[in-house]
Amino acid sequence: MEKTLVILKPDCVARRLVGRVLARFEEKGLVISGMRMEMITRETAEKHYAEHKGKPFYPGLVNFITSGPVVVMALAGVEAVSVVRKMIGATSGRAAEPGSIRGDYGLSKGFNLVHASDSVESAERELALFFGDGKFMPEADQASLRWNYEFENGKAN
Ligand code: RTP
Ligand code: MG
Repeated sequence: MEKTLVILKPDCVARRLVGRVLARFEEKGLVISGMRMEMITRETAEKHYAEHKGKPFYPGLVNFITSGPVVVMALAGVEAVSVVRKMIGATSGRAAEPGSIRGDYGLSKGFNLVHASDSVESAERELALFFGDGKFMPEADQASLRWNYEFENGKAN
């Protein structure tokens, strides 16, 4: 199944919202394929946010993401990348729809609680950066997803 990279950012951890945010992904039916808590190094942060290098908010963004512990995870599901992006909502907590994670828990553009890969290509790049050893948990079997997806000839829909 498709995987996406999610980071519960330092504000999420500091505000003790890890459980609530994680619960939303689990309740949706996404599978946690890998997860750990860490301090992101400046080197990794710069690689992760390389596309934003040179933008005015870039130095603050790198400072913020390296400022405290985060939870890094790989979530799996059919079209997991787009599903998770929808769940987190628009970049700013003020613009994000109520019902989305940022819309329900945030008011800031910078302190926006959660990162998620924005395309399948980004997901591949970001997963390689944070789970370079490719050590994900074994794929969830069909039986455990029996009521999350309709299976036809082994294909989830
Ligand atoms: P993310 O990468 O963290 O999941 O967020 P995103 O896709 O919704 O937003 P993106 O455009 O990739 O921007 C990355 C992070 O930079 C900060 N930002 N600040 N002050 C600003 O105008 C501004 N724009 C972006 C946000 O923290 C955003 O999450
Ligand atoms: Mg982004």
